[in-house]
Amino acid sequence: MTARILSGKELTATLETEMRGEAERLEAAGSPPCLAVVLVGADPASHTYVRNKIKAAERVGIASVDKFLPDSTTQKELEGVIAELNADPAVHGILCQLPLPKGLDAERITRLIDPAKDVDCFHPSNVGLLAMGTPRFLPCTPAGVLALMTRNGVAISGKHAVILGRSNIVGRPLSLLLSRKGTDATVTVCHSRTPNLKELTRQADIVVAATGMTPEWVTGDMVKEGAVVIDVGMHRVEDASKKSGFRITGDVHYESVAPKCSAITPVPGGVGPMTITMLLQNTLTAARNPA
Ligand code: GUN
Repeated sequence: MTARILSGKELTATLETEMRGEAERLEAAGSPPCLAVVLVGADPASHTYVRNKIKAAERVGIASVDKFLPDSTTQKELEGVIAELNADPAVHGILCQLPLPKGLDAERITRLIDPAKDVDCFHPSNVGLLAMGTPRFLPCTPAGVLALMTRNGVAISGKHAVILGRSNIVGRPLSLLLSRKGTDATVTVCHSRTPNLKELTRQADIVVAATGMTPEWVTGDMVKEGAVVIDVGMHRVEDASKKSGFRITGDVHYESVAPKCSAITPVPGGVGPMTITMLLQNTLTAARNPA
């Protein structure tokens, strides 16, 4: 079977074009959309991620307010910055990049962000709304996974989706999205204590690998013929054949899995770019429904 490649790179370009029009309409209506990004410390991966967010916002016509704070920032100072952004009517979305440096309480910060500006969809009230089937925002990576399937005509209704990983950012919220009325998958969430894992993945019509633990551990013998496989993993592994000495790979062993699939996401260029796109969609939603 030749797998269809579900390209996040391509879909991102399409969605960015759609969002540009919406951003222009909001600006013309006197409400130019604006995303605030708070980054504490010097973690290089976080800086790369935030830089990509700012660039994508620029492409779409969403203004950025960037707060780069030093490692020495105290909890009180960070809470002050969040309070300022909460109170600023020109700011529609607030994202505080995680993880925070040691000593800062991420959960407290997550709860402090005004739920109407919580474009990450991390605030307990937004997670609650999602769980009740009436979301204010869609969680970014899960929404990206869903869009990759729906925008490429992958049928979800009535299918058995097996999610590997129960994180608050991906696995758990994705299980809510996929089982929602109107999407209608039957969902199994697996984790490190799940016995007979391979038995479950081999029954799956849709496998979502989101453990982020071991590179390429989902192998061809774990999926059934014709399955749709979505790889949320992102790992940097040594590769002497590359000039850089490394390559980027996912949770899925692409070479053995792809030949069995009807559709599969590549890494890089699959789910990765979708997260930022969905964040920008949430910012437009926030600008349409200001706090
Ligand atoms: N760190 C890695 N991914 C994310 C994300 O989607 N949101 C936030 N706030 N931090 C992150």
